[in-house]
Amino acid sequence: MSTAPLLEVRNLKLSYGGITAVKGIDFYINPGELVTLIGANGAGKTTTLKVIAGLLKPSSGSIHFLGSAIGGQPAYELAALGVGLVPEGRGVFARMTILENLQMGAYVRQGSHSVKSIDHDLEVVLETFPRLRERLSQLAGTLSGGEQQMVAIARAMMARPKLLLLDEPSMGLAPLMVETIFGVIQNLNQHGMTILLVEQNARLALSMADRAYVLESGVITLSGTANELLNDDRVREAYLGVDAKTSAT
Ligand SMILES: Nc1ncnc2c1ncn2[C@@H]1O[C@H](COP(=O)(O)OP(=O)(O)O)[C@@H](O)[C@H]1O
Ligand SMILES: [Mg+2]
Repeated sequence: MSTAPLLEVRNLKLSYGGITAVKGIDFYINPGELVTLIGANGAGKTTTLKVIAGLLKPSSGSIHFLGSAIGGQPAYELAALGVGLVPEGRGVFARMTILENLQMGAYVRQGSHSVKSIDHDLEVVLETFPRLRERLSQLAGTLSGGEQQMVAIARAMMARPKLLLLDEPSMGLAPLMVETIFGVIQNLNQHGMTILLVEQNARLALSMADRAYVLESGVITLSGTANELLNDDRVREAYLGVDAKTSAT
């Protein structure tokens, strides 16, 4: 039995001038999987997502999405193909209302742009985020960090992505809000959405993911099922704050 990966990245490199942030990485994501890329600050996680989303051109290497080579295609084309990015720091349009933010999300998609189909999708995302429904005419810039994260995810969903790239959704959020957001992410995945989740909060990410990759200084140093990595001594020491010598598994 073989399933073709939805996304396959081979020997991907990205240099910012003299600094090589991503040094030839390989990974793949199968349809329906929730895969996490964990790593310390500066490891190259955001750079990797930006390259996949078309915001940066790879220096070398290949990216296949749905079987086609996409490396170097511009972001708007990739968005239309079904690559949805929820950027680090959310990137909501602060001076637009929630409703306008969500409508902007539908703008890039392929397929129907009719008012009816946009309203239908709006209804679906508002069911996922009831908190946004009560605030549709509120300016996004006046929302809490957690609510802005909801807008950012909901806006990405309006483009009908086939692959959702999430960059540090837990960053800066209170624990209860982190729980809410991660509940939504898990729920989206259980309903079939393929997700690449980038997180510094390794414990949280590994608790939800099917598989995981560890990125260190632009190199993938470990990969496996989320359970394998949760039980790996190196991961436990470096990312989960557990002293492997003194703890039994
Ligand atoms: N626009 C940029 N210009 C130059 N260097 C950058 C730029 N963006 C990121 N970097 C560098 O690339 C490396 C990886 O950054 P990044 O992908 O943001 O890491 P992460 O998301 O894992 O924290 C870091 O050393 C960072 O300083
Ligand atoms: Mg980052």
